[in-house]
Amino acid sequence: MTQAIRSMMMSEEMIHKGLEGVLVTKTSICKVNGEEGKLYYYGYPIDVLEKYSSFEETSYLLLYSHLPNKEELADFTTKMRLARQISNPILEMIKTFPRDSHPMELLQSSINFLSGYVDHKIEHSAYCNCRQTLHQIAQLPTIIAAFYRIKNGLEYVPPRDDLNHGANFLYMLRGVVPDKEEGDIMDKCLILHAEHGLNASTFTARVVASSLSTCYCSISAAIGSLYGSLHGGANEKVVNMLKEIDSVQDVRPFLEEAARTKRKIMGMGHRVYKAMDPRAVLMEGYLKTLSTKKGNSVNYNLLKEIQKVFREMMDEKDKAIYPNVDFFSGAVYELLGIPPTLFTPIFAMARAPGWLSHILEQRQDNRIFRPKALFDGPLDREYLPLEAR
Ligand SMILES: CC(C)(COP(=O)(O)OP(=O)(O)OC[C@H]1O[C@@H](n2cnc3c(N)ncnc32)[C@H](O)[C@@H]1OP(=O)(O)O)[C@@H](O)C(=O)NCCC(=O)NCCS
Repeated sequence: MTQAIRSMMMSEEMIHKGLEGVLVTKTSICKVNGEEGKLYYYGYPIDVLEKYSSFEETSYLLLYSHLPNKEELADFTTKMRLARQISNPILEMIKTFPRDSHPMELLQSSINFLSGYVDHKIEHSAYCNCRQTLHQIAQLPTIIAAFYRIKNGLEYVPPRDDLNHGANFLYMLRGVVPDKEEGDIMDKCLILHAEHGLNASTFTARVVASSLSTCYCSISAAIGSLYGSLHGGANEKVVNMLKEIDSVQDVRPFLEEAARTKRKIMGMGHRVYKAMDPRAVLMEGYLKTLSTKKGNSVNYNLLKEIQKVFREMMDEKDKAIYPNVDFFSGAVYELLGIPPTLFTPIFAMARAPGWLSHILEQRQDNRIFRPKALFDGPLDREYLPLEAR
């Protein structure tokens, strides 16, 4: 083996495909304890935030790295609710956006559209535009709901400022105010999705921020990353999977056939969690509540049976594969009357404060991201004139 080939092989071994296991930064925003199934935002356990906080307060926590006092929360909530209104040019853009496009494509374009109205001189001061305008957190739900209604031939429903973030979203979709329980469940679903460490979209946001780009461009890039089927969208696939199973009795044969054909069960497994995802535990609770309330436990019963039989099968193989957040969430959204095409956009609107938190942290100790690639192409090629090719 020549020296050149040996050094080439050594270099290839150094490639960390997908950056798995590579430490790229320090963070104090989110801790995922995959072994024990625990999740923290700025040190607060997710189940504590879910129980006592609101999406608005959790957004403050992610933007300012501490919980607000009474006055700060009141100010922030007022500001965020006033920021829900979209301007006429944005509404016109939504109306004229190609009807067949995916709402994630609209979201990405809208963020850049909004950016045009902002004074970028303050971008890198303590008063970053994202904290000033709250566009990315406050307006994404309005844009999603407006697009959904207009696309379906319904009237645009402007936001209200007397409802929490989740309840207002349901109101803008349905055109009627949801009851308190449903509004609160929607709000809690958003808390559970607000942050989750250095996944692909969050890393994308940090990479764009590292070139000192604006928070708008960083968020729009993150939305693009989330749109990909390897990131957002597993909950939609869970709902589709449930449609293939007729009854609880069919669950075991379905799972055995899936194992035989090496088909993955959607909503199961996670790169980091080797225990049940704590968000799945909470999602299951909402699904149970809504199933009883709506007198429709079909999906709940199917999911519980899948969970039970899958566990037995995994125990036999000694594999730590448990339900992730997506296992129950699609069924929760369905019972809230939300169509599957909105599942990933909801993920985006919930994750906006998490993305912004990482952008702000990136700026505190920034260095532009510039990894290396192993060059594997020809060199010094002869440039033939056009007529000789
Ligand atoms: C999330 C996910 C991509 C994590 O992937 P990962 O850490 O790279 O794990 P791998 O895909 O390499 O799987 C490791 C092993 O577990 C098995 N496995 C993982 N998830 C599985 C699932 N959902 N159903 C059945 N088997 C699964 C794999 O087949 C593989 O088995 P093998 O060692 O015999 O080949 C993967 O679990 C998955 O595709 N889940 C379903 C989709 C989903 O719910 N995504 C949402 C994530 S929040």
